[in-house]
Formats: sequence, C-alpha cells, structure tokens
Amino acid sequence: MSDAMKYLMQIRGEAMADYFSFLKKSGSHLDDKTRALISVITKVDKQTEAGFRQYLKRAMNVGASADEIIDALFLAFPTLRLSKIIWAIEILLEMELPEFDVKRLNQSLDWHSLGPIEELESGLNYLENCDGKNLFVYRNEKQFRVYDSVCPHQSTRLSLQSVATDRLICPSHGWAFSLETGQCLNPDKSHLNNYDCKIEDSQLLVFW
Ligand code: FES
Repeated sequence: MSDAMKYLMQIRGEAMADYFSFLKKSGSHLDDKTRALISVITKVDKQTEAGFRQYLKRAMNVGASADEIIDALFLAFPTLRLSKIIWAIEILLEMELPEFDVKRLNQSLDWHSLGPIEELESGLNYLENCDGKNLFVYRNEKQFRVYDSVCPHQSTRLSLQSVATDRLICPSHGWAFSLETGQCLNPDKSHLNNYDCKIEDSQLLVFW
C-alpha cells in the first residue's frame, strides 16, 4: 500500500474502509483469475509499476498462465495501445519470470527431473538452475513438495538465506512463507508457486 493510501486510512479510515469494501463487492461475480487479469490491465493502464508487479504475481498465483496474461493485455489494446503494452512487457522482462521465457512459451509443458530422491535431504532443500528454475523441495516422511523461489509480492528471489526457524522470510518486505508448503503466513492470501511432482525410477519429476 502506498504512503498516500496509508495516510488516507489514518485520517479517513471509515471512508476508505467503504471504498475497499466497494472494490471487493464489485467483483464478487467474477472468478479469481478474471478479477486478477482485470487488475493487471488497470495497473498497466495507470502505469503503476509496483502495482503491476504485485497484481501480475497475484494473477499467476490464482492460475493465470503467461499466455493468458499476454492475451489479456492484447485484448485491452483499444485502451492500452501499444506503448503501455510495451511498458508492461519491459517490466515483465526485467522480472525475469521463467514463465515468460520465450523458449518456454514456445514449448509445451513437460516433466523435468530434479535428480535422485536419495540426494534430497529431509526438510527443506534449495536447488539452483533446474532447467532454468531455482526451486525449493520440501521432503518429509510421506511426500515431496516443490515450489518456486520467487516471492509473489514483487518477485524477489528467495534462497536458503531467507530461512528463519520455521519459515522463509522475504528480505524485501518481510512476507513469510511456510517451509513445508510455500503458503504465505503473513499476509495470508498468497503462496509461492507450487508444482506437481511425482517419483519415477527413484527420480523426483516436476511438471512445468
Ligand atoms: S518482494 Fe515484497 S515481500 Fe517479497
């Protein structure tokens, strides 16, 4: 939230609460993904960079693919025009999101091997450059969980240095994530991107 919004919350708390309530209720008949894509378009239209980064990640967290996000920007061409779409794409490229990698967008989804499971320790593992991704793998007695190392807030990269006792803490603004699931604990409406995984021939395979 910007300093200006925080200020208004302090001096006009009731009016601002009504405003946020209006925003929430006005999208109540839309699914999460549609709502998130509309928010992305509004941030691009206003060219608010921090908001665009945040809502882009939110859209991805509720299931919007890179292709869907680019389609949404193109569909909004009558209002955005090419200059704002280019502005958004430049930020996207700066964010180095693997989902928007050209090679990946031209490839179909597939299973990727993270190597033999006996090399993965119990608890949290951090694997660098797995076919272009840095991933966390959480192992317990029953299962493996694989999730991304990019903070859903504004795309800061997390690593084992972000671990604080029972959670990962993003160094940029302090969002905290469960080591076990990648679920955001504070604030609680987000999560690190999760990937499906399976074991085959003692190898851990991950789908993206
Ligand atoms: S980038 Fe803001 S909390 Fe991670």
